[in-house]
Amino acid sequence: MKVTVVGAGAVGASCAEYIAIKNFASEVVLVDIKEGFAEGKAMDLMQTASLNGFDTKITGTTGDYSKTAGSDICVITSGIARKPGMSRDELLGINAGIVKSVAASLVEQSPNTIIIVVSNPMDTMTYLVHKATGLPKNRIIGMGGALDSARFKYRLAEALEAPISDVDGMVIGGHSDKGMVPLTRLATRNSVPVSEFLSEERLEQVKQDTKVGGATLTGLLGTSAWYAPGAAVSGLVQAIACDQKKIYPCSALLEGEYGLSDLCIGVPVVLGKNGIEKIVEINLSKEEKAALTSSAEAVKNNNTALTF
Ligand code: NAI
Repeated sequence: MKVTVVGAGAVGASCAEYIAIKNFASEVVLVDIKEGFAEGKAMDLMQTASLNGFDTKITGTTGDYSKTAGSDICVITSGIARKPGMSRDELLGINAGIVKSVAASLVEQSPNTIIIVVSNPMDTMTYLVHKATGLPKNRIIGMGGALDSARFKYRLAEALEAPISDVDGMVIGGHSDKGMVPLTRLATRNSVPVSEFLSEERLEQVKQDTKVGGATLTGLLGTSAWYAPGAAVSGLVQAIACDQKKIYPCSALLEGEYGLSDLCIGVPVVLGKNGIEKIVEINLSKEEKAALTSSAEAVKNNNTALTF
């Protein structure tokens, strides 16, 4: 199993590290545009191998895509990240050019690859990769919901004063502060609806804290987060590499599901060796449906800025 990660920055390197530590891939290739950067990150990570007990071989290259040839899965994290006060949408202009050219180089070397898009604004970048590469829709996946759901579970566990492993919950919709739809109605603590434990006001607070989860960290760190994003990407990569058939909310091309089409947005999908093996349509309440529809309108509006 060969995995390429483009962008050896905060998220790319974190994701490479988690993939290596989970020890399911034979090879991870890091690519960056900054001279020597991916090579340096790869060497540093390889020097953790004997300490962390993994056999995954990590290499780095400054833009030599021939080194990525035959990758089973490619992850795109290249581009700029937001600074405090910025929205993810403000990154569109710069990141669209980067993501488009990176996707083309990856597909040239690995025509059968599955691509995971991370660069923001992620739903729009995922749509761009669909349009620019023409790859089958099951092979292009946007990562956002897995991270947002992890942040939702963190906030739920905090409110419930319960261990995170007892908590389940999912965030669908666009990967943006306004676009996220945390499904509090379906969240559970050991199979019991969380509404049994938390007031409506407290649940609303959990929802709001989840939606601004990225912005809160950007304010604290001065740049966007990397541990949880890297771990979330590694979860998706592992589900595909190990054919786990796990359900994650991912940005997928919709063609009528949830009454939406011609956009990529976060919905629950089954991930296995073919990438997106099924889009799961859950029954949403009227309110949740309206929130998803409004989120989709915002993503579609962003998409109009793209050229293919
Ligand atoms: P970073 O600045 O630490 O790393 C980005 C890397 O991309 C840099 O090393 C840069 O040299 C490289 N790069 C730029 N242009 C390139 C090109 N043409 N080819 C190869 N490499 C290139 O940024 P960070 O924090 O790793 O974030 C990366 C992206 O991921 C950002 O757009 C950020 O907004 C997004 N992100 C998305 C998340 C999600 O849930 N979808 C979560 C966190 C970040």
